[in-house]
Amino acid sequence: MCGIVGYIGKQQAAPILLEGLKKLEYRGYDSAGVAVRDGAKSIQVVKAKGKLSVLAQKTEDGKALYGTCGIGHTRWATHGEPDERNAHPHRSTDGSVAVVHNGILENYRELREELKDCGYTFASQTDTEVIANLIDFYLKRDRKGAAEAISRFMERARGSYAIAVMFEEFAGELYLARKDSPMIVGEGEGEMFVASDAAAILRHTRKVYFVDDFTLACVRADGVRFFDISGNPIPKEYQLLDIDAEAAGKGGYEHFMRKEIYEQPRAVSDTLSHYIKEGDIDLGISLHGVKQITVVACGSAYHVGVTLQYAIEKLARIPVRVELASEFRYRDPILGEGTLVVAVSQSGETADTLAAVREAKKRGARTLGIVNVLGSSVAREADDVLYTYAGPEIAVATTKAYSAQLALGYLVALVLGKNNKTLSEEQFARYVSALQELPSKIEETLRSESEIKAFAARHADVHDVFMIGRGIDYAVCMEGALKLKEVSYVHTEAYAAGELKHGTISLVEEGTLVLGVLTQSGVFEKTASNLEETSSRGAIVATVGTKKLCEGQFFPIPETEEPFAASLAVLPLQLLAYHISVCRGLDVDKPRNLAKSVTVE
Ligand code: M6R
Repeated sequence: MCGIVGYIGKQQAAPILLEGLKKLEYRGYDSAGVAVRDGAKSIQVVKAKGKLSVLAQKTEDGKALYGTCGIGHTRWATHGEPDERNAHPHRSTDGSVAVVHNGILENYRELREELKDCGYTFASQTDTEVIANLIDFYLKRDRKGAAEAISRFMERARGSYAIAVMFEEFAGELYLARKDSPMIVGEGEGEMFVASDAAAILRHTRKVYFVDDFTLACVRADGVRFFDISGNPIPKEYQLLDIDAEAAGKGGYEHFMRKEIYEQPRAVSDTLSHYIKEGDIDLGISLHGVKQITVVACGSAYHVGVTLQYAIEKLARIPVRVELASEFRYRDPILGEGTLVVAVSQSGETADTLAAVREAKKRGARTLGIVNVLGSSVAREADDVLYTYAGPEIAVATTKAYSAQLALGYLVALVLGKNNKTLSEEQFARYVSALQELPSKIEETLRSESEIKAFAARHADVHDVFMIGRGIDYAVCMEGALKLKEVSYVHTEAYAAGELKHGTISLVEEGTLVLGVLTQSGVFEKTASNLEETSSRGAIVATVGTKKLCEGQFFPIPETEEPFAASLAVLPLQLLAYHISVCRGLDVDKPRNLAKSVTVE
């Protein structure tokens, strides 16, 4: 949540900061700001409410700000409303310390009161201004330098933070510190970059250092030095990132979401082909001895877990429990021997998912991350990591990362089935070849976009939608409903089809849209009957599936092995959400109140 960029070198900093922030806008976009300084001159701060374009306009795309050292921030409000006053960078009372911050300082109220008693004043409602003043306090009180003052702040801080700090007193230096919020430093020729996500600096360098938890760093144009909280130097090697910077562009599509929907065949095929070798699956890790699985995840990644619960239990006969990471971390979970805790996360930075991994490790469970972003926190902290190869996903609503996670989850299910001998060699081979056919079937399904678009145009003003299905189809409905809610702002509920008449059917009235998902042949008739029950009460009924069993609009999908059907059934629902959002004139890629990575609780 929120994005940080920093630069120090020989070029003008502001345009580089703005360009980097543009790549991070998906992390938050309610206000933005930069602090830039020219040599030993004073730090200049410019902030603006709203999207980054407002700040770009205010600074003439950064050209109005002169200086080769700076920090920038794009915000997703946690403390204080999204206005200019609360936008970052925040400065200490006398203006000598400027800070940008991702995360939440949980004890900021008590620290603010202490600082007020020492004469500090506060212009914003943010926890970040407390950080700037606290660092300033220790700097002036102890006179032991910037790193020492930041260490003192780190000792006092509770919560999460990644901070970049500029000091009036120390020209030519940027300081960083991190706990539970990602931060990297990129190295160029006589210039250094700072960012909360590699996407912001990939155009300039692929040589990066990952800042670890409880570490601080001093960045100068000619290099970076890392320290622990006691001031001891930490030796660190850089890593070369292998990420396609161009993949982060819109490539001719009007929106990232549509581009990413169409990248799904490739995302799934790249993920599968990384692990399938000559008809066998090589995950590069052993899954022997796994007796039960707990999936921890949030949002769409949680829906992946729900789908995998059905697939793994069917194919490998291993009990699977799926938990919202935000619940798991606080509910004293029982993790028996042989439990594998699988954390599913596109970003690898979701605060609750990361905390769930830590909790599981603390309790002695083996942890496995299914992650898209290379080198992200979950990837580094889980005992093992399996990467999805979806490429950078920019739209806030996930599509291709969700599909790649499913594909990788199916591979895990098949390996477990093979280990447990719940799948014969013949069945294993049949399922593997069904997976290899998925990318072309995804392409085939996407060809029905024009019918979905027309349907979306007819129903763009719908008020209430129910998506119903059973088993895997219910899991698909959960994802379809989240897509429609988050990008189209349409109230949508996913329901297990058989549960509807235990209360919720009373909400169905003339004009309610009920979408049924029917891919699981064992329950076709059951779900079809549940749809009939809603249409006889005035609902408009439509279905996504392999067989038309009801009246109303039908969106066909190709046949595949039933445990994998979610990968196809979700596609019409993604396109429906996309087109309703477009028809309603909404910001598809950056829906209100959201951020791509939820790095706070
Ligand atoms: O990066 P993660 O996969 O951990 O993110 C989890 C959720 O925040 C994410 O899936 C969210 O629900 C998406 N906006 C849904 O489209």
